[in-house]
Amino acid sequence: MTLHAPFLGYKNNINLNSDIKRFDLASMVTTTSIDLHATRIAPAAEVTFFVPAQHVPAGTAVDPQSNGKPIPDLFKPLTIRGVTFQNRVWVSPMGQYSAKDGFPSPWHKAFYCGLLIHGPGLTSVEATAVSARGRVTPEDCGIWSDAHVAAWKEITAFAHSQNQKIGIQLAHGGRKSSISARWLIKGGLSVPAEHGGWPEDVYAPSAVQFAEGMATPKEMTKDHICEVVKEFKDAARRAVDAGFDTIELHGAHGLLMNSFDSPTSNHRTDEYGGSWENRTRFTLEVIQAVRSVIPDTMPLFYRISATEYLESQPEASWQLEDTVKFAGIIANHGVDLIDLSAGGNSMKQDVKLGPLHQVPFSEAVKRAHGDKILVAAVGGINNAEDAQRVLEKGQADVVLMGRYFQKNPSAVGLFAEQLGVEIFRSYQIEWPTVGRGQSLLKRAAALT
Ligand SMILES: Cc1cc2nc3c(=O)[nH]c(=O)nc-3n(C[C@H](O)[C@H](O)[C@H](O)COP(=O)(O)O)c2cc1C
Repeated sequence: MTLHAPFLGYKNNINLNSDIKRFDLASMVTTTSIDLHATRIAPAAEVTFFVPAQHVPAGTAVDPQSNGKPIPDLFKPLTIRGVTFQNRVWVSPMGQYSAKDGFPSPWHKAFYCGLLIHGPGLTSVEATAVSARGRVTPEDCGIWSDAHVAAWKEITAFAHSQNQKIGIQLAHGGRKSSISARWLIKGGLSVPAEHGGWPEDVYAPSAVQFAEGMATPKEMTKDHICEVVKEFKDAARRAVDAGFDTIELHGAHGLLMNSFDSPTSNHRTDEYGGSWENRTRFTLEVIQAVRSVIPDTMPLFYRISATEYLESQPEASWQLEDTVKFAGIIANHGVDLIDLSAGGNSMKQDVKLGPLHQVPFSEAVKRAHGDKILVAAVGGINNAEDAQRVLEKGQADVVLMGRYFQKNPSAVGLFAEQLGVEIFRSYQIEWPTVGRGQSLLKRAAALT
């Protein structure tokens, strides 16, 4: 492993494997002969501010474990295309409703950087709008201009200074646009123009209102459909420029793609409505457009609502079998991972929440497609044993958590303790526990 930063300040670009052997790290920290070398911290590369380099990403399991036990699946690394994730406990996207004009703020820095210093395999930022009118709330984040790129770069640069991976979720709210932030009013209420909303500028496949009090959307023309596909494409290009490691397309929770796919919200009679193939056409166009502008090495994920929870209703709806079929199709279009959420496209939904409530959906896709597409489970995963069991039973390849990470930013560390797994943490957090100088010994042993 070559480190492009002065390690302990004694020279540039050392090869950790051979140099650690050569300098005998153990004696380096216990004798005085080369103490001078141990007086300076190696800085993280490629950032304009000083922060210590993390030679091994926090959240990585020590391999082999000093007790000789096998590493549980949750802490096994995963490589997708050109990106390696050090573990399989990932942060699910969570809207913060704290942006002005789509720009991430100091809150976003505190929130995301506070999570990623503890080493989730991937920290995904929230639904980020591809256009101003594609925001769900006026306070949503966005990436519809180059100025947004610069703002996001501050967060991705910090992630990379920590040797961590950061993803973005690209979204268009469709008929759920221009509503109030979640903690203000249950269900959301249309925000009028005088309070920063755009209720006259809300678009969807059909003019079908989601709920009373929300805008009745205008039916999108074909030109408008093309425009939105291009907005996704441009946003993906910007996400690459901004330094994100992964892109997830938000096709769940009643947002625009979800509402095109479902017969409950898509009543069109042109080639974007009617048959299953027609309804999913827009989503596939977005996927193709995005895949065409991002590097081959960059993983592309898709979040879907596996079901609308309308199985008990007489009308046709999007159900799990549609999701299973669709997963196979999007895998052929360059989607590497499908993230199985559910609901959010109908007020009539009949949801049964609880621990692991969406795991049957990830399991169904996994059983149908095996390794053709990777699968993420999310929803009600709140402890290490459950998370590990989901992977062990082959119900998913990774687990995502939302609320648990909000309450416990160091969830990866907690899970490691619960499973008895020895992991690396950030130097600043690790040394007081393992002892002065011991972090270096721990890494030397792991990297030689
Ligand atoms: C505060 C909050 C904001 C959320 N925002 C988003 C979002 O921006 N995009 C999305 O796809 N899901 C969003 N979700 C859903 C979560 O990603 C996750 O799927 C859900 O909370 C279930 O997982 P959990 O039980 O681990 O919290 C949000 C959830 C919460 C709690």
